[in-house]
Amino acid sequence: MASSVLASQSVLLDTGAQMPLLGLGMYKLAAEEVHCAVDAALAAGYRAFDSAAVYQNEAKLGRALMELLPKYGLTRENVFITSKLGPRDQGEKAMEGALCSLSQLGMDYIDLYLIHWPGTQGLDVADQHNSGNRAQSWAALEDLFIQGKLKAIGVSNFMPAHMRELMLSCKIRPAVLQVEFHPHLCQAELRSMCKEWGVCFQAYTSLGKGELLTDPLVVEVAKSCSRTPAQVLLRWAVQQGIPVLPKSSKPERIKENAGIFDFTLCEDHMEQLSALERGRRFCWDPSQVV
Ligand SMILES: NC(=O)c1ccc[n+]([C@@H]2O[C@H](COP(=O)([O-])OP(=O)(O)OC[C@H]3O[C@@H](n4cnc5c(N)ncnc54)[C@H](OP(=O)(O)O)[C@@H]3O)[C@@H](O)[C@H]2O)c1
Repeated sequence: MASSVLASQSVLLDTGAQMPLLGLGMYKLAAEEVHCAVDAALAAGYRAFDSAAVYQNEAKLGRALMELLPKYGLTRENVFITSKLGPRDQGEKAMEGALCSLSQLGMDYIDLYLIHWPGTQGLDVADQHNSGNRAQSWAALEDLFIQGKLKAIGVSNFMPAHMRELMLSCKIRPAVLQVEFHPHLCQAELRSMCKEWGVCFQAYTSLGKGELLTDPLVVEVAKSCSRTPAQVLLRWAVQQGIPVLPKSSKPERIKENAGIFDFTLCEDHMEQLSALERGRRFCWDPSQVV
């Protein structure tokens, strides 16, 4: 599939912006790997990149894009950049943290900025101050949204109770909820809340950090479609309209993970994959954060 076709696969956010269905995940992408991975991703048609203050690669991403966009005839407006407020900046340091992300990226604006985690670094998960700090962070993100520095704002790793609390108190609704999502963790309650409230539900850890690639059913479906297990897992999500962020540092895998828009999984395969649900997480668990 031509990379220009891939680049046009997107979802509409409630801000009116289009967010690509496929983005490059950047967690654990080492600084020295960023340039090569961004180059491979742009070549393969990716137009979205998912970084975070805690990944410590915002500056490398900004520099790589500045150097590489002209090579592909692209400008800043043609790519969608996500970053996230680190848990150590939750609360009164939120404005400073978001401005630091902008400065690290070397950009005038960020397309999507998320509160990374419902808790605050250094506070116990049961500490009641977690809630007030979240509210303070959200107010800072709302200010920066109004100023146009953050084009969309959202949250990550929020559980249903965190979402309800935010929806009751916010002036500006979150555009996106980014959470762990794959056939072993289907997040039914959060998905239905997002649908009801017009929040875009976005998946992370779609490959189970690589572990789901050997799930017997995933392997079997891949064989029957002449696709790879990674493509099956990613297709299962995007076929439900859910944006994905597979991470790889390897150009051939980055290209492979982009090959998800030129085939369809049949209803039986979709249902069988969804039936693998078992509440299994490969990443951090926010359920205890008050
Ligand atoms: N908001 C949050 O709290 C949060 C949490 C976790 C993740 N995320 C976002 O979601 C992204 C993806 O999640 P993730 O990094 O946890 O894991 P993931 O995408 O599920 O899996 C990444 C792992 O799979 C390997 N891999 C990738 N493509 C492959 C392929 N085609 N075949 C075989 N192996 C492959 C990668 O290795 P190589 O690099 O060696 O190829 C890496 O070890 C993150 O990078 C981040 O942007 C957000």
